[in-house]
Amino acid sequence: GAAEIDALLSSHISEHPDFPIPGVLFRDITPLLRDPVALRTVIRHWATLLPEGVEYLVGTEARGFVLGAPLAYEIGAGFIPVRKAGKLPGAPAGLTYDLEYGSARIEIPQDSFPAGARVLLVDDLLATGGTAAATLELTRRFDVEVLGATFLIELAALRGRDRLAGTALSTVWRIE
Ligand code: PRP
Ligand code: ADE
Repeated sequence: GAAEIDALLSSHISEHPDFPIPGVLFRDITPLLRDPVALRTVIRHWATLLPEGVEYLVGTEARGFVLGAPLAYEIGAGFIPVRKAGKLPGAPAGLTYDLEYGSARIEIPQDSFPAGARVLLVDDLLATGGTAAATLELTRRFDVEVLGATFLIELAALRGRDRLAGTALSTVWRIE
């Protein structure tokens, strides 16, 4: 049940004060990634929270890749990687955005989605919502149906949810 999953996450996601800059309490998912049973348990539980009919999960580099790909595999969806700037050849669609710490630019190939694709955003963590809002904005430039967004961790105090108002959200572990 959900309480067991919360316990699993709190024991497999470590906290690091003042990383990468003062004032940020960084949540590190690498202990979860390296534990095969915990990783599989969490991915399988997460899959049960997702809406029906998702054809593609859209995940942002880098942690959105690591969790998004197994989650897509679990629900039988495809995975669309949204990359940080400078990684894609040609003339990708792109957008610059702010983070809890710093700023970044994301890019996506022009031919990422077939027309009318039903897509769901995925990332490890929702903080300010800047990354998700940017990924949503970029994704919506394409002819797709966005079903919502899903996160393993929601840092509720940072109010990313407010920034994504109007988008259906699911989060596995909500931290106040
Ligand atoms: C982290 C995290 C989310 C984002 C959340 O990624 O994986 O993508 O920040 O913060 P926000 O809600 O304030 O935008 P980061 O940019 O640190 O990159 P990484 O995945 O490469 O570690
Ligand atoms: N991305 C943005 N804020 C974060 C935090 N506090 N921990 C881990 N990743 C993050």
